[in-house]
Amino acid sequence: MKTSVILACAGKGVRAEFKDNKLLQKIGNITVFEKTFSVFEKSNLIDEIIVACSKEDLEVFKTLTKNVVKKTTFVLGGKTRTESVYNALKTAETDIVLIHDGARPFLQEQTIENCVKSVKEFSSGIACCPCVDTLAYSEDGKTINKSVRQGFYNVQTPQGFLKDEILSCYEKAMKSDKTYTDDASVYGDFLRPAHICEGDSSNKKLTYKSDFSNDVLVGTGFDLHRLVTDRKLILGGVEIPHDKGLLGHSDADVLTHAVMDAILSALSLGDIGKHFPDKDPAYKGISSIVLLKKVLKIIKNQGYKVRNVSAVIMAEKPKLSTFTEKISTTIAEVIHIDAKRVGITCTTLEGVGLVGREEAIACQAYCMLEKA
Ligand code: CTP
Ligand code: MG
Repeated sequence: MKTSVILACAGKGVRAEFKDNKLLQKIGNITVFEKTFSVFEKSNLIDEIIVACSKEDLEVFKTLTKNVVKKTTFVLGGKTRTESVYNALKTAETDIVLIHDGARPFLQEQTIENCVKSVKEFSSGIACCPCVDTLAYSEDGKTINKSVRQGFYNVQTPQGFLKDEILSCYEKAMKSDKTYTDDASVYGDFLRPAHICEGDSSNKKLTYKSDFSNDVLVGTGFDLHRLVTDRKLILGGVEIPHDKGLLGHSDADVLTHAVMDAILSALSLGDIGKHFPDKDPAYKGISSIVLLKKVLKIIKNQGYKVRNVSAVIMAEKPKLSTFTEKISTTIAEVIHIDAKRVGITCTTLEGVGLVGREEAIACQAYCMLEKA
């Protein structure tokens, strides 16, 4: 039995209040649409993908999937989700069809498997999760008439069916005045109660702007510079009294370098060597804090800001513990976050290796980025 998936992507995302369709918003480096699409593209259970989209998004969606090998067709959606799904259903040629909201990018392969299995066994499979919150019914929107939880489910997508069955239900639904918000209710009204299968609580539908903001990315960066005489020792923008300093084209602030690499790496933007080449005379002797400000501008242009930084400085000498607070405050001020969100620790390497022999100082940094 072959299976196709209909991706309902023809909405406008009015409630999310972005300029364009919410499915064109990026989460990480890719759009919501691409993330949702890729789950089905990778799935061995899916033979064909049908995307229902609006006329204005058609070309963008086609471009975003131009390198896709799996059979993919685009169908124009309608004014309502029901209309969009119906238009796509008419073109489906497989025995089983799954219907999925483009706005649910966090779907796992396991849920696809649960739906397909349920369709094979029970003719339908609707991804559902038992309600964790109590649901209240209010007639006037002011006081609660009834509360329930036991036996109630949050209904998600995918919703899987035998194609001929769901198509004939949709044909009837298109002639009725009733508004449908999902496919199981169409199926339930015109054929039989749809079968529940196990959903996944992480398979959330992105609806409001706030649903997009908890996208976080982690980055890591590492750097090491040699210690030499006649150089200042600058760590995290703070000058540390010492008889040696770090060698480098810029001020060789190894800590700020590792932090910048972590930030750039979180968005796969390459490293500081790429953005500020050490052959470029413009960066000779430059304060790394100035470069950090440039890095922050780069990620701001991508719609991100730093949520926190955590770094460890590896140095045999000098003793740095009395400077970590000043370093945190300095970096935090540049990043515009609370100093408590810049955690700096230091360690010796017990006399081992380049760092242990006081020939170099190294630094490992992590950061977390969030949508600005
Ligand atoms: N959808 C569709 N055709 C429509 C309306 C919605 O294919 N005419 C799709 C959306 O693109 C979305 C899914 O159905 O992936 C779930 O709908 P919803 O979350 O309501 O998305 P939008 O309708 O785009 O958002 P809003 O209601 O806030 O405008
Ligand atoms: Mg809608």
